[in-house]
Amino acid sequence: MTTTQTETPEQARRAAMEAKIADLHAEQDKAVEAGGKYVARHRERGKLTARERIELLVDEGSAFLELMPLAGWGSDFAVGASLVTGIGVVEGVECLIVANDPTVKGGALNPWSLKKSFRAAEIAEKNFLPTINLTESGGADLPTQKEIFIPGGRGFRDLTRASARKQPTISVVFGNSTAGGAYVPGMSDYVIMVKEQAKVFLAGPPLVKMATGEESDDETLGGAEMHSRISGSSDFLAVDEHDAIRLARRTVARLNWRKAGAVPTEAYAEPDLDPEDLLDLIPTDLKEPFDPREAILRIVDGTGPGNEQPFDEFKPLYGSALCVGWAKLHGHPIGILANARGVLMSEEAQKAAQFIQLANQKDTPLLFLHNTTGYMVGAEYEQGGIIKHGAMMINAVSNSKVPHLTVIMGASYGAGNYGMNGRAYDPRFLFTWPSAKSSVMGPAQLAGVLEIVARESAEKKGQPFDAEGFVAIKEMVETQIEEQSLPYVLSGMVYDDGVIDPRDTRTVLGICLSVIDNQPIEGAMNFGVFRM
Ligand code: COA
Repeated sequence: MTTTQTETPEQARRAAMEAKIADLHAEQDKAVEAGGKYVARHRERGKLTARERIELLVDEGSAFLELMPLAGWGSDFAVGASLVTGIGVVEGVECLIVANDPTVKGGALNPWSLKKSFRAAEIAEKNFLPTINLTESGGADLPTQKEIFIPGGRGFRDLTRASARKQPTISVVFGNSTAGGAYVPGMSDYVIMVKEQAKVFLAGPPLVKMATGEESDDETLGGAEMHSRISGSSDFLAVDEHDAIRLARRTVARLNWRKAGAVPTEAYAEPDLDPEDLLDLIPTDLKEPFDPREAILRIVDGTGPGNEQPFDEFKPLYGSALCVGWAKLHGHPIGILANARGVLMSEEAQKAAQFIQLANQKDTPLLFLHNTTGYMVGAEYEQGGIIKHGAMMINAVSNSKVPHLTVIMGASYGAGNYGMNGRAYDPRFLFTWPSAKSSVMGPAQLAGVLEIVARESAEKKGQPFDAEGFVAIKEMVETQIEEQSLPYVLSGMVYDDGVIDPRDTRTVLGICLSVIDNQPIEGAMNFGVFRM
């Protein structure tokens, strides 16, 4: 990072992070504005947008934790993937809400919408949440149907499996929901259809005419009145969109929902240190070292009754490149594992494995804070058993049964991403800071490895190695890997649940921990065989 003469390192870090946050907002705005000119047409039709429907559905003044808003970023499809999803509180009940955005390609679902909706269903399942679908979609995105038609069936399967697990599902149909889409209300426990707007049929009038020769119209085939009075596929006939949302809220109010987890009742103190300072402290240049305790003390509950010390570090003198310890967040006890220096060595891996077992023994959720370049390489470390010790940590992470939360603060490279509970290890929620980067290794290292491999390959073939010519290739690879490791790319691919402003971390994690409390926490009694 370059600093001007008058700029302190704190000011330089803040300026760099603020620039990244401004970029983040600009990218998130793309999802909000994805409908473009179709938003005005939608309103002229007297309809509410997906976000307005959600806003009216959730309790006034409550937070809506939007998830995966950047899905599809960098693809041929609109940012957000024609869906808005997240966790909202309806009549005091935390619900997973999925709303089609009918202003984006008629709400048609593309491959990214599928990834996003599958992840949303997984969040509902793992955290035991009721699901509310705000339905208005042109079904499959027809040009990419081969990528979505067959896997897409899972969406309907997930709905009925949720119902069987006693996780209620509600579908509010605001418009088109035809062909496969008809199975969204079809498979839901409670269905509300909006008068003169809902269209729910397996085939519309033209297709019926072609298939059977029968003349029909939308209303007779699949209107809200017909389904509410004749077919019984709708449980409630809403006179308009506001009435539909009111009926959805009444339905949730009657779910008799009780959280089965240990909901904290004690008051908690805000952090001892101001979360605002995070912008002065977190380097956006990942080569700059950063003490995660500075972040921890600005995320967890501060000193107060029942919390005499905000963070009790465990094994502080051993494996000091990984900082682990106990804290509370919004009154929920948590264990934290945070990279203090980039690299993970045998001691850190063993310490992590021990700590994860302790959290399981006391049924305590874990928070992983990433800033790692991966496990240490080199003869000394290989001989010291870095593979088996890394495997120990990965074993513990994989078989741990307490809920895991992950925040990628900075670097997340190589197997460090796995050991620290990256996306493939099923954290309940995974968020990324705008300063994060993730790939198999750093761009410069990867390009350097490619050069060595190319040089050795040329030698084996007895050919000269064009070192000068390789400079351009190396630069190109470095740029490409750098671009691919950025948070928007990873978020676009649905490798996280969202990129967040570091200052919001406490609030976001607090919502997640509250959601987790829908079920009791039961730590693992068994792990895989630890190679000693
Ligand atoms: N796949 C791909 N693109 C679709 C689509 C789909 N299933 N449905 C709509 N679109 C596109 C339209 O081509 C149009 O694109 P354009 O802006 O490039 O012209 C855009 O979305 C808006 O569509 P439009 O028809 O103007 O919107 P509408 O609000 O008046 O009607 C629908 C929306 C969904 C009712 C209507 O588009 C429709 O009937 N689509 C086909 C539905 C279908 O049969 N799906 C297959 C089910 S598996």
